[in-house]
Amino acid sequence: MGKPTILSGMRPTGPLHLGHLVGALENWRDFQDDHRCFYMVADWHALMSEYRNSGTIAQFSREIVAEWIACGIDPERSTIFLQSKVPQHSELYLILSTVTPIGWVERCPTYKEQLRELASKEVNTYAFLGYPVLQAADILLYKADVVPVGDDQLPHLELAREIARRFNSLFTEVFPEPQAKLTKRARLLGLDRRKMSKSYGNFVALADEAQVIQDKVMSMVTDPQRIRRTDPGRPDYCNVHAYYEAFLPELSEEVAAGCLSAAFGCVDCKARLAEGLEAFLEPIRNRRNELLSSPGQLDSIISSGNEIALEEASNTMAEIREAVGF
Ligand code: TRP
Ligand code: SF4
Repeated sequence: MGKPTILSGMRPTGPLHLGHLVGALENWRDFQDDHRCFYMVADWHALMSEYRNSGTIAQFSREIVAEWIACGIDPERSTIFLQSKVPQHSELYLILSTVTPIGWVERCPTYKEQLRELASKEVNTYAFLGYPVLQAADILLYKADVVPVGDDQLPHLELAREIARRFNSLFTEVFPEPQAKLTKRARLLGLDRRKMSKSYGNFVALADEAQVIQDKVMSMVTDPQRIRRTDPGRPDYCNVHAYYEAFLPELSEEVAAGCLSAAFGCVDCKARLAEGLEAFLEPIRNRRNELLSSPGQLDSIISSGNEIALEEASNTMAEIREAVGF
């Protein structure tokens, strides 16, 4: 038996931020040691909600790839590719659509939620209903065994498994049933303690410069019960402490103790976090900017990944066509 295959993806609809790093990229990076990894820029999925701004997708795609690499996704060990450069994704999307009952996609809990949340993007389209079917195609095309995702994606994974089972039983056993692998760490909250989200703008982006990081960190919501400088705080509650745990674990105990004993105030605590975050992000940002300023190098990384993905996808597609009888 070879190494198990991993596939995961992100939609290129905006800049990556600390939540992506903690929620996904750190796991992606660790999987490289003992899995065959495919990491995909889901640009067709982005088009499903951004079709009015389709011009932004290509640039975000490049940035995402540069940021993945800067965070330790190694193009020598992982296949990094663009979904839209592998036409088999759309072919399999069509084939899987033929065996997916409409009720399965209509009942998908993310569908109704997204219709509400993305109302301004007018995602009440034919393609958007099929969003999880395209995602199933992404996964099955590489016969992925494991799919690292956040808990919001679990319904899509369940659907991918059901579609795989249905295909296998209607035609021939082609697909393994992909397992979801939940991200290890709890989700990091946004600067304002709400869910970290592009639409709230409550995050530190991986590309943010030192001054921006500082301004954002100083604006973070702390423990509201700590009113006076002499009041003890609750590090277990405070989001600033959660950021220490995630990015500066070596300081986290000391900060917790100082918070509980009111040894320092929140302003100092945040200033120190800002400094530490800058030290943490600076090399990532530099590597990212370096890659983006040498487009030739980035293009060649992406096109080699596309080629490997294409080869893999066309092998599976040959099996699929044979199973269907064409
Ligand atoms: N839907 C995923 C998200 O929004 C992105 C995605 C597209 C994906 N295709 C995938 C994730 C395949 C895992 C596997 O985060
Ligand atoms: Fe939060 Fe730090 Fe203030 Fe404690 S001292 S409440 S951890 S910001």
